[in-house]
Amino acid sequence: MARTPSDLRDLKAVVTGGSRGIGRAIAEALARAGAQVIISSTNSTNLTEAERALQAAGLHVTGIRCDVANRSEVEALASAAVERMGRIDLWVNNAGISGPFEGWDGSISGSTTPASQGHSAMHWTYRPMPGNR
Ligand SMILES: NC(=O)c1ccc[n+]([C@@H]2O[C@H](COP(=O)([O-])OP(=O)(O)OC[C@H]3O[C@@H](n4cnc5c(N)ncnc54)[C@H](OP(=O)(O)O)[C@@H]3O)[C@@H](O)[C@H]2O)c1
Repeated sequence: MARTPSDLRDLKAVVTGGSRGIGRAIAEALARAGAQVIISSTNSTNLTEAERALQAAGLHVTGIRCDVANRSEVEALASAAVERMGRIDLWVNNAGISGPFEGWDGSISGSTTPASQGHSAMHWTYRPMPGNR
């Protein structure tokens, strides 16, 4: 049966930059619709505060620290999310960063324009998803 926007039971989601602002609002909306959500950000204290506040509201939200500018941390976040939730159905690339990034391999574009730097960050967060290359 197709899901409606107000019924996201069984949806497993990751929201980067989910400790405050737009990311936290997205995470809360998804969780209120029934999703299990993992939020991430760089500041562990803020992340824990957000996690506790959302859990106190009865929402299934947990935090994992991750700096999306760091490729290995993004890959570790994806692995930890799959371990914790069983799978990832939705990945929200909310946390914005600007490059150039250490480890950029140019596999999407050979240039280093701001647009390709953005693609690089997207690539890092796309590739860890199960089934993606
Ligand atoms: N608000 C706007 O009008 C607007 C307009 C256009 C685009 N945007 C973009 O939309 C996104 C969210 O905006 P916002 O206003 O909600 O921002 P915000 O209130 O500053 O929140 C940013 C969130 O991202 C986290 N974050 C920052 N750097 C990170 C990193 N390197 N890795 C992982 N998490 C990181 C922050 O937590 P930590 O500090 O703990 O890491 C926080 O949870 C940003 O990418 C922003 O550039 C916003």
